[in-house]
Amino acid sequence: MDEAGCQIILALKGFSMFSAFPIVKEYLPGATASSLHEIKLINDYLGYKSHTYIPAYQDREFAEVLERSSHITFNSLSQWERFKGQVKAFNQANPERIISCGIRVNPQYSEVETDMYNPCVPGSRLGVTRTHLGEQLPEGMEGIHFHTLCENGSDVLERTLEALESRFGDLLHQAKWLNMGGGHLMTREGYDISKLVKLIKQLKEKYNLEVILEPGSAIAWRTGYLTSTVLDIMESQGIQVAILDTSFAAHMPDTLEMPYKPRILGAHYEPMEGMPTYRLGGMTCLAGDFMGDYSFEKPLEIGSQLVFDDMIHYTMVKTTTFNGVNLPSIGIWKTDDTFQLVKQYGYESFKDRLS
Ligand SMILES: Cc1ncc(COP(=O)(O)O)c(C=O)c1O
Repeated sequence: MDEAGCQIILALKGFSMFSAFPIVKEYLPGATASSLHEIKLINDYLGYKSHTYIPAYQDREFAEVLERSSHITFNSLSQWERFKGQVKAFNQANPERIISCGIRVNPQYSEVETDMYNPCVPGSRLGVTRTHLGEQLPEGMEGIHFHTLCENGSDVLERTLEALESRFGDLLHQAKWLNMGGGHLMTREGYDISKLVKLIKQLKEKYNLEVILEPGSAIAWRTGYLTSTVLDIMESQGIQVAILDTSFAAHMPDTLEMPYKPRILGAHYEPMEGMPTYRLGGMTCLAGDFMGDYSFEKPLEIGSQLVFDDMIHYTMVKTTTFNGVNLPSIGIWKTDDTFQLVKQYGYESFKDRLS
C-alpha cells in the first residue's frame, strides 16, 4: 500500500473472524461487504463504513446500506436506475459524507479454471459487459469494479488488466476509482509484489484514479488450523477408514465443493506404499463426507489428533450444523504459545437456526 499508493481492504466473505479484527485494523484501512450483515460487522468491529457490493440490493435494506457504507457498487444498470434516486437524496442531505458509487464490469477475461469460481463464464450474472455501457459512465457514477481473480499471482492480474483496458479503457479515464476485487494472493510465498506495485502505479498514472484491492484469502492465508480427533477406525473392503470428530461437509465445505484436498500436519499428502494409510471420514451420514487417502508415519489410533492446515479463509465463514453436528470451537493461539478460547458452540447454536 505504501509503495503503490493504493488501498487494500478486507473482503469479509473470506474472513470474518471479528475477534481478530483489532489486528486487521492495524494494517488495513477498510473492508468490503457482500450483505447487510457483513456491513454491520464492519461498522461494529472495525469501525469503518463499508465498501459494499451486493449482486442485488433489496428495497427493504437499502436505506440501511446507505447509512453504513462509504462506497456502493452496483452489479447492473437496472439496479443503478432503481436506487440512484435514493443515493442522490442521501448525498444531498449529507454533503459531509458523500457515498461514492460504482459499477461492476465483466472484462470477459479470467484464468480461473473452475467454473464455480469463474465470474466470466458465458452468461455470468456478475457485472456488466461492455455492450451495456455507452461512451460515458452513467451520470453520478464514479467507480469501476471488477473481480475475476481467484488465488492468482500478479502475472494473471497483468493479463487481466490488458483485457480490462482494451474493453473499458475510455471509461477508466472518466472514473475516480478502480476496485480490482479480490483473488490477489499477495501473501503467498513467491507472489511477485513488485509487479503488483508496478501495475498499480502505471494505472494510477495513466488514468489518474485511486486503486482499491479487496482480497479475502490473502489476509488469512495459512493462518489457522482445524484440529480433530480420531473417533473410530474401521476396515471397509480393503480400505482403512478413520472417522473424525469433524466433517468435511459441515466444517470444511470447500474441500467438497471446490473440491480440494486439505493438507494435514505431519501426514503424507499422497498415499505412500508400505505406510499406514487411511481414508478420513467425517461424522455426518453424507456418503461423500470423506477425504483421502493420506499416509502417516505411525498407525492412527482412537484419540489421535489430526490437524488440518490453512483452515481459516472460506472455512470459518462457511461452516454449517448439517446433521446437527456441533460447530468447531474458535480460539486464538498466540505467539507466546498461550491459547485463548474465543467461542464454543452447543445445542442452542444449532437450534437457533431452526424453528
Ligand atoms: C466481489 C469480490 N471481492 C472480493 C472477493 C475476495 O476474493 P479472495 O478471497 O479470493 O481474495 C470476492 C470473492 O469471491 C468477491 O466476490
